[in-house]
Amino acid sequence: MSLNPSGAQSPATAQSAPRDVPARFVWHPRNPSAPLTALVTGASAGIGAEFARQLAGRGFDLLLVARRATRLTELARTIESEAGVRCTVLAADLAQECGVAQVEAVIRQLDNLAILVNNAGFGTVGQFVRSDPLRQQEMVYLHVMAAMRLTQAALPALLHHRYGALINVSSVAAYIRLRGNVNYSATKAFLNAFSETLHHELQGTGVFVQALCPGFTRTEFHSTPDYQNFKPHTYPAFMWQSAQKVVQRSLDAVGNGQVIYVPSLVYRALLLALQTPVLGETMLRVGGRLAQA
Ligand SMILES: NC(=O)c1ccc[n+]([C@@H]2O[C@H](COP(=O)([O-])OP(=O)(O)OC[C@H]3O[C@@H](n4cnc5c(N)ncnc54)[C@H](OP(=O)(O)O)[C@@H]3O)[C@@H](O)[C@H]2O)c1
Repeated sequence: MSLNPSGAQSPATAQSAPRDVPARFVWHPRNPSAPLTALVTGASAGIGAEFARQLAGRGFDLLLVARRATRLTELARTIESEAGVRCTVLAADLAQECGVAQVEAVIRQLDNLAILVNNAGFGTVGQFVRSDPLRQQEMVYLHVMAAMRLTQAALPALLHHRYGALINVSSVAAYIRLRGNVNYSATKAFLNAFSETLHHELQGTGVFVQALCPGFTRTEFHSTPDYQNFKPHTYPAFMWQSAQKVVQRSLDAVGNGQVIYVPSLVYRALLLALQTPVLGETMLRVGGRLAQA
């Protein structure tokens, strides 16, 4: 990873960028002056760890962020030996101001940053009225504040090189608003609106935005104490995807014109069905009962 000690850059903006940038995202840019870096938050498990592995496979050096330093270090060693890229780890709690400020400061010193994946996240189960307010506040900080602040810190480098991708890991829960999931759906809806609007601002700059909306994905997400009563087998196998498939489809789709990207045909069909009045309401009622079961 190369750091820019002065942090001085003169970023292009959506207004000033020349029009010679490609209309689609190109995974291998022409003559990069140094290896490019991808930063992945929540890289110690699940979808984030998979983003790390696949971005390394596409030749990017990595900066891996999460709270569990040991996990990150183990993953970094494996990836370095298998993919031959450089991996740096940064242990930070992105649900806290000090953690966000720490990562933000490192990003502002990175002159070769090309990819930012805002992936770190968690869910809770149960009615909002009875939920722990501190835990809900942490969710807003992690899904909303951290993603917003790290994106703003990353943008000058990406605009300067007129090359980059911002992937915000959202969820189909942004649209499937089940009881028991109030703040999770709300924060993921923020990520979708944020991504869509930012996309408009960045058109023609060479920087592409995606809000990735997976459905159920086999990771550690449903293994936390919050989900101790959650029964994955209540949901049919076709509703579950592997993190490997979710990430591969996400990376292949960057810059394909779909800012909101649902990496599964099953969930695309579900989202369409939800828009029909009677069927949609029934599905939300049944889904809400299953989630609370
Ligand atoms: N799995 C699903 O069914 C599903 C579906 C739709 C969307 N998603 C979204 O996908 C993203 C990744 O989730 P996952 O399924 O891969 O879950 P996971 O296996 O539990 O991984 C979550 C990651 O987020 C990190 N993280 C959690 N809190 C953090 C904090 N305060 N500061 C920094 N890092 C933190 C965790 O690392 P540490 O614990 O080491 O900090 C871990 O690396 C989330 O945004 C989630 O909302 C998941």
